[in-house]
Amino acid sequence: MKHESILVIGGSGFIGSHIVAGLSARGRRVIVPTRRLTRARHLWVLPTVQVVETDVFDPQALDRVLAQSDAVINLVGVLHSRPGTPWGPAFERAHVELPRRLVAACQRQAVRRCLHMCALGADLHGPSMYQRSKAEGERIMLDAAGLEVTSFRPSVVFGPEDNFLNMFARLQSLLPVLALGGLQAKFQPVYVSDVAHAFINALDDSTTIGKVYELTGPRVYSMKELLHLAGIYSGHPRPVIGLPDALARIQACFLEHVPGGPLMSRDNLDSMKSDNVASGHYPFPADWRPTPLEAVAPHYLSGR
Ligand SMILES: NC(=O)c1ccc[n+]([C@@H]2O[C@H](COP(=O)([O-])OP(=O)(O)OC[C@H]3O[C@@H](n4cnc5c(N)ncnc54)[C@H](OP(=O)(O)O)[C@@H]3O)[C@@H](O)[C@H]2O)c1
Repeated sequence: MKHESILVIGGSGFIGSHIVAGLSARGRRVIVPTRRLTRARHLWVLPTVQVVETDVFDPQALDRVLAQSDAVINLVGVLHSRPGTPWGPAFERAHVELPRRLVAACQRQAVRRCLHMCALGADLHGPSMYQRSKAEGERIMLDAAGLEVTSFRPSVVFGPEDNFLNMFARLQSLLPVLALGGLQAKFQPVYVSDVAHAFINALDDSTTIGKVYELTGPRVYSMKELLHLAGIYSGHPRPVIGLPDALARIQACFLEHVPGGPLMSRDNLDSMKSDNVASGHYPFPADWRPTPLEAVAPHYLSGR
């Protein structure tokens, strides 16, 4: 079935903006709810895209945007929360409560097709609150009666507007030397356009219903290698020194409280206790040919 009108919750963000632009380029009508219209100003100019200021946690508001849609993509996610067991309040709200409300609204509005954004390494028993809450949100979506759900688990995502290689580059342009924990942690970064294509291709493909896909790039890197590459590509390579775990936790505790939001948290360090690489437990999408980081990152980092 071809889905013509798609609600993209979290469509104003880094990955969402690529998915929304791709859907618009294919002539699909897209509704993007946002908490603040100005957050999505880059989407205003796209034909077929309607940005609406809406609280998606309000059942009536969610019903209103769903009533105009025949499919929904949920991309809402946060990286930090105050602590809690099994996860903190911000993770509960974004990763667990929203999927619960979305399932109920889809059932009320008879919108069956849902694409859901989880994350590589999501695990109900994982070491971090982020991983545990992401796994619970995915479970809620996949178990929902009457819904046709596909879930995606990307590794860390790179692209011109990423908050990952760009942050590594920015830190190296500001500091003479970097001292960080978790340098041995492994990642398999994936390009944002590849992630967007995986979502768009799955939308009308009924063979993806009920499935979970991992989205990873072609190569595994340690955190230290990624820092090194970001430094080289941006023209500010700096020495990188590994911190022992105890010092890294003290540093993260400090970075949780920097003005403008946490740069890094103790929960991020907990996430890095398990390597963020393809597990082999879930398939890749059909025809998955991921773009190498080396083909893209030098171009956008060199402009920094
Ligand atoms: N980036 C990565 O490397 C990566 C890797 C694996 C998985 N993921 C997952 O992919 C998804 C998108 O990531 P991203 O990097 O594109 O994130 P992002 O740029 O931070 O965008 C997040 C989006 O979620 C919305 N949002 C956040 N908290 C919300 C809340 N409490 N209520 C309503 N809306 C909220 C924001 O909407 P408004 O601010 O406009 O309201 C924004 O559009 C997330 O679920 C993330 O966990 C990302």
